[in-house]
Amino acid sequence: MNSDVEIAGDPLAVPHLLPPVPAHPSTVAGFAGLARAIAADRAGWAPLVRYDATTRWYHRLRTGPGYEVWLLSWVPGQGSGPHDHGPSSGVLTVLDGELTERSPSGVRALGAGAQRVFAPGYAHEVVNDALEPAVSLHVYFPGLTEMPMRPPHALACTPAHRDVPPLRTSSLG
Ligand SMILES: [Fe+2]
Repeated sequence: MNSDVEIAGDPLAVPHLLPPVPAHPSTVAGFAGLARAIAADRAGWAPLVRYDATTRWYHRLRTGPGYEVWLLSWVPGQGSGPHDHGPSSGVLTVLDGELTERSPSGVRALGAGAQRVFAPGYAHEVVNDALEPAVSLHVYFPGLTEMPMRPPHALACTPAHRDVPPLRTSSLG
């Protein structure tokens, strides 16, 4: 019985009782936690943000084994268009402002702090429908290699419309 084991000296000095904290996340919960930790460090990301009225701005914030973290800005009216993320899963976290997500499961208003976790092939559209700029953080695992655009009816709620072929590849969203 383990309850009969007594450790003489400092138990935390026994290596197998204190496994090292991994330097990089490897689970969905880990990636969501990484996004929340970055979001909480406003002084770290806020000075990097740029707003561009002519094209959606994005910046690769960091990379790790098997994942990438991107910082995006959205001026009012800017949107991603309907798309999926190829073979990548992702965590979308709103850092500032409000974004609207349209997907086959409905329309969601995502305020600062909101998180969405999505699986490979998940189709959605993200738009800044608000009157103020918005900033979001996107973790992709594996790193985003393609972002196929979808026709608008790909986001309809009827299952028959979900599996439509990609149109082309565009920028991040
Ligand atoms: Fe997306």
